[in-house]
Amino acid sequence: MKSVTKICLLLIGITFTATAYSADDPLEKAIKARQGEMQLRSFNAGPLFGMAKGKIDYDAELAKKLAGNLKLLLDLDNGRAWAKGSDNENYAGKTTALPKIWTTYPEIADYGKKYAMAVNELAAVAGDGQDALKSKIGDLGKSCKGCHDEFREKK
Ligand code: HEC
Repeated sequence: MKSVTKICLLLIGITFTATAYSADDPLEKAIKARQGEMQLRSFNAGPLFGMAKGKIDYDAELAKKLAGNLKLLLDLDNGRAWAKGSDNENYAGKTTALPKIWTTYPEIADYGKKYAMAVNELAAVAGDGQDALKSKIGDLGKSCKGCHDEFREKK
């Protein structure tokens, strides 16, 4: 019985240590911040894709606002969230970011530039009607997917 208690306490100790470690781990914080930014992109881009496809009604004001939000996010200097070592080999199950991001750097920056260009072009016309939105949404989708295909673990 005694040894069982000891093992239990030991296991609890290990769990606590692991939790404390992850809460303070700067690389894990970086992963969360990076994924948080991606979630914001997705949250804002989602209805734009929906409107372009006619899955939801086109709403000029909303389209303008959401594309504007994507543009605002471009101004966020979130470089710290892309800290070296925060890849899916070191953090399996916590991130889908491939080590290639860092081993081929600055290749990913080109994908970032294409994305920024697509966002800027979309934001300029998103409020001008569904056709205008449609004319630029494809490039946005391609820029998201292009980077994911190259630098993100496939599920
Ligand atoms: C320059 C590269 C790049 C571009 C452009 C890009 N992404 Fe990502 N995205 C990534 C990487 C890398 C990850 C993996 C992040 C991780 O798991 O740490 C990711 C992850 C995500 C995730 C999952 C986040 C999570 O919680 O695990 C979503 C959602 C996402 N991206 C949406 C988008 C959308 C929508 C766009 C375009 C509007 C976009 N991304 C543009 C590189 C990019």
